[in-house]
Amino acid sequence: MSTKCNLDKKSAWHAHVVTLFPNMFPGPLSYSVVGKALSAGRWTLSTTNIRDFGLGSHRTVDGTPSGGGPGMVMRCDVLASAIDHARKTESGLQGIYLSPRGEKLTPQLVKDLILSPGLLLVAGRFEGIDQRIIERRKLREISIGDYVLSGGELAAMVLIDACVRRITGVLGSDMSLDQESFEGKLLEYPHYTQPREWESLKIPEILLSGNHSKISAWRLRQSEKLTRARRPDLLGPITCKHTTPSDDIDNI
Ligand SMILES: C[S@@+](CC[C@H](N)C(=O)[O-])C[C@H]1O[C@@H](n2cnc3c(N)ncnc32)[C@H](O)[C@@H]1O
Repeated sequence: MSTKCNLDKKSAWHAHVVTLFPNMFPGPLSYSVVGKALSAGRWTLSTTNIRDFGLGSHRTVDGTPSGGGPGMVMRCDVLASAIDHARKTESGLQGIYLSPRGEKLTPQLVKDLILSPGLLLVAGRFEGIDQRIIERRKLREISIGDYVLSGGELAAMVLIDACVRRITGVLGSDMSLDQESFEGKLLEYPHYTQPREWESLKIPEILLSGNHSKISAWRLRQSEKLTRARRPDLLGPITCKHTTPSDDIDNI
């Protein structure tokens, strides 16, 4: 009924996804740094297949919306059986329902989420899930952005990826985290690598100077200009200024 990967290291941060499509996992989460961290047991993943708790010979998981309207709604009794089963095997996980109407996933929220021992992530499908399961199982609703996906699985993967890469040691160097976009309210500066010149575009001389304090100052200036041009909201109300598309990075 539940699929488990890498559950040998009990202290590792854990993600459990309650889903109609368990075969989607780990999927993209098995690649690159997050995948290596999964193989190394720095985090663990398991799933519960909601269909296993469906009703009748068709294993029904949904019903028509009360009050009418399009689509289908996932049943609270079926979801309760799936969630309770998952919680019986793995206690202490924070319950989350991936939902477009939830609080927005932010860098601060990501930092908070990795402080808990792990997450139980409910992935919705169809028109969503019966409100009563959200209330009774105290699910925190989290959105990955202002758009609607076909299901919560991709949203769960985005949330898991964002969390796992913040676990100490998952990225090669913790420096990579310090200088990333949104750290210190700034977007990240532009990157360059070999060749020195490509299609008549040169790497800025300062980056080849070897002068680390000047390079840091240049990068900070680029971060500030980029943030002012693209995301003045990050800088707060005092430093906000009206921008036009011509203020963009191309003109820095
Ligand atoms: C087609 S959507 C349902 C949309 C819903 N009827 C609405 O208008 O808000 C199906 C499922 O995808 C997931 N989902 C869609 N967009 C999402 C988003 N932006 N963030 C998190 N989950 C999302 C949710 O789990 C949702 O139950």
